[in-house]
Parts: sequence; C-alpha cells; structure tokens
Amino acid sequence: MPLLNTGDYENPSDWISVFKEVRNSKAVMVLGGSDTGKTTLIKYLINEFLKIDKRVSFVDSDVGQSTIGVPTTISSLLISSFEDLKMPKVDSMYFVGSNSPHGNLMQMVAGVKRTVENSFASRADLVIMDTTGFIDGAAAYELKYQKISLTQPNSIVAIQKEKELEFLLRLVSNAFPSTKILRLDPASGAVVKSPSERQANREKLFSEYFSNAKELEINLDAVSLRRGPFGRGNPLSQLKLYELSKLFGFEVLYGEEGIDDALFITQSSVHMGTTFLSMAQNYLKKTFINILDQNELRGSIIGLGGRNSRDFILGLGIIEKVEEGKVRLVTPVEDLNQIGVITFGSLKLSPEGKEIGKMKFY
Ligand SMILES: Nc1ncnc2c1ncn2[C@@H]1O[C@H](COP(=O)(O)OP(=O)(O)OP(=O)(O)O)[C@@H](O)[C@H]1O
Ligand SMILES: [Mg+2]
Repeated sequence: MPLLNTGDYENPSDWISVFKEVRNSKAVMVLGGSDTGKTTLIKYLINEFLKIDKRVSFVDSDVGQSTIGVPTTISSLLISSFEDLKMPKVDSMYFVGSNSPHGNLMQMVAGVKRTVENSFASRADLVIMDTTGFIDGAAAYELKYQKISLTQPNSIVAIQKEKELEFLLRLVSNAFPSTKILRLDPASGAVVKSPSERQANREKLFSEYFSNAKELEINLDAVSLRRGPFGRGNPLSQLKLYELSKLFGFEVLYGEEGIDDALFITQSSVHMGTTFLSMAQNYLKKTFINILDQNELRGSIIGLGGRNSRDFILGLGIIEKVEEGKVRLVTPVEDLNQIGVITFGSLKLSPEGKEIGKMKFY
C-alpha cells in the first residue's frame, strides 16, 4: 500500500526511541517545518503501533501536502490492522477551504479538535496528528498553541533542523507541563520539495479526487451558503430577486440580506454606480450593498456538508456557475439530497483539479 508504506528507508535509531516514549500516549502531535520528515515518521509510528495491536487514528491536518485526504481538508483514517493499510478509506473530512492555514486559523483549530474527538468516538486507542510546516511567526505559534491546548497531546515530537521550534516548545512546557516533548533531528534522507513540486503534488491529489466527478446542480432553496462572500443573512426571496432585477435592468441571480448589509450575485459584471447603489439601499433598507459577478465564483472549491454529518463534509465540489435558484457544480458526491450546507473555500480549481487562483474577498 503506497500511502502509508514506510518504503525502504532505514529507520533512524532515534525513531525507535521515540516510539518507546510515545507507545502509551493517547494523543501524539508531530511538529516540524516543511520536509523535515514528519509524515514519514508518522508512517513508521503507525506501523509500530499496529505491531502492538493498537487502533490508531491518523489525523492529517496538513491541508497542503495531505497524505490520506485531499488538500484543503483535515482528514482522519482509523487503522486497526495491517489489512487496513492496503485499502485505506478516509473516515472523516473537515473542510478548511485553502491549501494553507493562513486566513483559516479558526477552521484549522476547530477542525483538528472535532476530528480528534470523532476519532475517539470511533474507538481509536490513540490519535497521531500530522501538521503543516507553518511554524514561524506569531500566527503559527498561536495556531499550534491552540491546537495543543484543545487536543492535549501527551507527547509532542518536535523535528527541528536547528532550534526553530524552541520558542513554541518553551511555551508548551510552561503552559502544559505534563506534555512530554521529544526533540528529533530531521531524517538525514529527507528530500526537500520545491514550491512547484508541492503544487504538482496537490494537483495530483485533486485530479484523483475529482476523476469520477459529475456535473450536478443543487437547489439554493435547499441549502445554506457560508464563508467566502456568503453567510451574511437570509437569502432574498424570489420576489425580491425579481423586483431587484427589474429595478436594476440586470439579472440578480442570488442575494442575501443581513441586518444592515446585503449581497447580490449578478449574471455578469456590472458597474455598481451610485444610482444603483441608492436604489438597492432604498429597496432593501440596508446601508452596505455588495455585488459579485457570478463568474468570479467559477472554480471555487466548496465543502458539501451533510445534514447529519455534524461538522464533517460528504465531499468536495468545484463551482461551475450560479444560475437562477441553483448552483452548478462538479463533484464525486452522489446523494445531493443529503447536502445541507455549502461552504466556500478560497482556492479556485479547474474541473481537472489545477489550481487556477484564489477568491479575492479572502
Ligand atoms: N528516513 C528517511 N529516509 C529517506 N527518505 C526520507 C526519510 N524521511 C523522509 N524521507 C523523504 O523525504 C521527503 C520528505 O519527508 P516527509 O514527507 O515525511 O516530510 P514532511 O515533513 O511530512 O513534509 P511536508 O512538509 O511536505 O509535510 C519524502 O520524500 C520522504 O520520502
Ligand atoms: Mg507531511
């Protein structure tokens, strides 16, 4: 099984002592910069835990260089036996919406917490958390701090080239003194990936994920939209959309109104002059009016939230277009009736999974 195969590497001798130190942990977090060998160490540890009959949940919170899931998501895989390694099937997917934690710190923290909880609810003996290489700067420290605070790992394995994690580790030992900290050098064979190799790797994962996707449509009446430009308030009624379209002389496909703001999605790009603006303000009695050409949504990655799946998604989709009352998308998810929430991410993809840009409003 290629995914979790440790390959032909020689396991560095210090990995063996790391395993001895973590073998009784309920939660292990691996921290380190990019290409330090975090995921390879985790694969080794999973294999060692299987040898002592532990049910391990691999919580992959690397939203860029994902191992078990698709980039933009935090996923988990429950592994009870070596047999499970042959046909790994992701147990849960939590949507973050970007291939990096920047701008998504809340979602990263909530996602890891929910995924770890879910792993224990699925009777994992322990969880091992993989993380992104985002380790430098105040936002990174805060992200890691909150993740640690919420998931309370018994052990943290810190892989560092020099002393780049020491600030964070000092914080951890002051705030959570019972957490065991294990320091490791990067594996000597660890290979560094260039940004373009990282992108190619993500695109390969997207293209595999969307290879069996179909073009489908979802009725906007049946779902709630959130993040991106959405989530401002209730959808505008068909009557209001009709009246606004008539008033403006261009088609308003979808709209939302909050307490003092409103959003319109329009058929094509329109220049919202002051006359239009005051017409919209008067008609809806709102101060702030936002307008978005539906073409700007094309390619947006979305998480399709099931009605009963709590925070977890049924799968991902890519927006094709918004039409009157519905959204057209490409997705491998089959049962669209189960979808209750569509969450917009900031990344834009071609239907083949190529990264083609970012949403402007993030
Ligand atoms: N002990 C080792 N011996 C030989 N090669 C290794 C070893 N550990 C890791 N590698 C290789 O080095 C590369 C980086 O390792 P890995 O993917 O585990 O790092 P990472 O820290 O998880 O990287 P990322 O930042 O992409 O998540 C991989 O190609 C992996 O196969
Ligand atoms: Mg990795």
